[in-house]
Amino acid sequence: MIYLDSAATTLQKPAAVAAATAWAINHLASPGRGGHRPAMAAAEKAFACRETAARLFHVEDPERVVFTFNATHGLNIAIKTLARPGSRVVVSGYEHNAVTRPLHALEADLRVARSPLFDRGGALNAFRRELDRGVDLAVCTHVSNVFGFILPIEEIAALCREREVPLIIDASQSAGCIPLDFQALGAAFIAMPGHKGLYGPQGTGLLLCGTDPVPLLEGGTGSESRRQSMPDFLPDRLEAGTHNIAGIAGLLEGLRFVERRGVADIAAQETDLIRRMGEGLEAISGVEAFLAAGPEAQAGVLSFRVAGRDCEELGDVLGSRGIALRAGLHCAPLAHETAGTLETGTLRASVSAFSTGREADKFLQTVRELKNV
Ligand code: ALA
Repeated sequence: MIYLDSAATTLQKPAAVAAATAWAINHLASPGRGGHRPAMAAAEKAFACRETAARLFHVEDPERVVFTFNATHGLNIAIKTLARPGSRVVVSGYEHNAVTRPLHALEADLRVARSPLFDRGGALNAFRRELDRGVDLAVCTHVSNVFGFILPIEEIAALCREREVPLIIDASQSAGCIPLDFQALGAAFIAMPGHKGLYGPQGTGLLLCGTDPVPLLEGGTGSESRRQSMPDFLPDRLEAGTHNIAGIAGLLEGLRFVERRGVADIAAQETDLIRRMGEGLEAISGVEAFLAAGPEAQAGVLSFRVAGRDCEELGDVLGSRGIALRAGLHCAPLAHETAGTLETGTLRASVSAFSTGREADKFLQTVRELKNV
């Protein structure tokens, strides 16, 4: 099988990830829940994971790296901390339901900074326009999970800082894939999954906290147990209940892999593969590939459509031929609406540090063969 669905979750992981996860199940107890060896070992493992993530994303204090179950969990904490019913919230035209559904549930006043696909200048201008109209909060994805479009997050963050508007960044598709600097961005929160570009197991995520959060869950933390409200300090304030320590042990190995390989190196590899696949698709008649003009606007995600073919049906056929990718709306109807693909959806191929040029060529060959079947 050729796995091209890393935007959903990476499947090929460094061997150390599964080994550390399996080892943790019988060796690590609960961090902060005892002075015995398995509890202390668990606390050390959790702290090592926070420290490694803090180094990778330039977070000064590792205690501001909070464990979540996935990016959606982190985004819910961030959004519910900063938005209220009626809050004026600007989002990009490329947000996932993990952003838009919590905002909808809160009955926020949503303003979409719409801009054409792969137009980084346009995205910045659209944000500037909405920010200048007056908003209480900005939420922006770093990389579109549908099209791989890299939003100009550094510039958007600068606009938000100048206007003192808190910014939440959804780094689901960028963490571990392209450089991300928490300190330089000055964001209120950055949410990310552990199981995509960080190569950890599913059920892991990180929330980088630049502002004081409101807990989404209340419960035991192993600290200040007499008190009936959640502790004021991080990470305990957000980490109620038993940790997914086996997942965290695996995530630590994923983070170490990314650190060793280097994010810039991974980014270069993924970009090359996307250019190769995108240009190959463009050369097949009847295939429409959503490929940016230059590599600076697109990370390791590529959408495409085939004239006269239903995307989901073709996705199933590709799957039966050993090409694993995702078809449809990818939980991001807003992104499809912005790009004009809401009615059809797209087929989406997405790569990881384990994807190869040979796999890209085999994918192209299979699309060529199937196009007219
Ligand atoms: N948000 C993930 C995706 O794009 C699951 O497939």
